[in-house]
Amino acid sequence: MKKYKLGFIGYGNMAKAIIGGILKSGILDRSQIATADPLCKEADGIFCTSDSDYFAGNCEYLILSIKPQVFKSIEIKCTADCVISIMAGVDSASIGEKLGMQGKVIRVMPNTPAQIGKGATVIAENTLDKKHNDFCCAVFESVSEVCVLPEEKFDAVTCVSGSGPAYAYYFAKAMIEGGVVNGLDKEIAKKLTLDTIIGACEMIKANPDVPLGLLISNVCSKGGTTIEAVNVFENCQMDKIVIDAMTACRKRSEELRTGK
Ligand SMILES: NC(=O)c1ccc[n+]([C@@H]2O[C@H](COP(=O)([O-])OP(=O)(O)OC[C@H]3O[C@@H](n4cnc5c(N)ncnc54)[C@H](OP(=O)(O)O)[C@@H]3O)[C@@H](O)[C@H]2O)c1
Repeated sequence: MKKYKLGFIGYGNMAKAIIGGILKSGILDRSQIATADPLCKEADGIFCTSDSDYFAGNCEYLILSIKPQVFKSIEIKCTADCVISIMAGVDSASIGEKLGMQGKVIRVMPNTPAQIGKGATVIAENTLDKKHNDFCCAVFESVSEVCVLPEEKFDAVTCVSGSGPAYAYYFAKAMIEGGVVNGLDKEIAKKLTLDTIIGACEMIKANPDVPLGLLISNVCSKGGTTIEAVNVFENCQMDKIVIDAMTACRKRSEELRTGK
């Protein structure tokens, strides 16, 4: 029996978000969680050490929540039963090889909104048993929606949910600027934009069988106002711009992963 159920190597933004979700959902209590971080920062009642070797031998599950470049530069002596990595761009095989934990690594890709419990997480299919996968799922369900996909899809996942929050921020920023250009105060333009985007996303979720094209055309009455804006999007092929941007993102993810 290991001293801690779950350990984190790297106690930064994501580790804090995940621990917050775990404690809120009651999967574990503080005494079952430990963290390792160089400065051994204040840890909100959670054990923290700078000695990652001591610690990695005392945890049933270990989450790698350090930056990929840090992982590549350090040695970790790990005897956990299962390692969960949230590091972008490092595949499970190379993590398993480096730690001597082949076949015991689950790769996971959360995204930034996990920091407020609203993210989208993808867990890579793996050969670990149901117990380990159920635990991993429960951890990430405490901060996000979760789906499971083959690991070879992770470059595509990166260009959708990994990097996607930035696209949404970009569109929101442009809408706010559009509100200001057309006569609103910035604060009210921001409020209207965010409430509109949140409401529109909820509408999409509430109507899973309605094609998005129909949701768009439902707002666009003939000779009305919305169609004028949508025509501008169509004329500049905005869908193609978005697809091209995402393809560039996916290619960069492949380059980083393969080192080419
Ligand atoms: N942020 C996101 O939304 C997000 C989304 C998906 C995936 N990820 C992945 O999650 C990982 C963590 O991201 P983050 O945003 O949480 O980064 P972060 O806030 O920088 O956290 C990383 C932590 O690791 C610590 N650290 C550095 N060297 C260490 C070592 N040798 N041993 C133990 N801890 C060490 C850092 O300490 P110092 O600050 O003192 O160096 C820092 O506290 C990254 O691999 C990233 O790719 C993040």
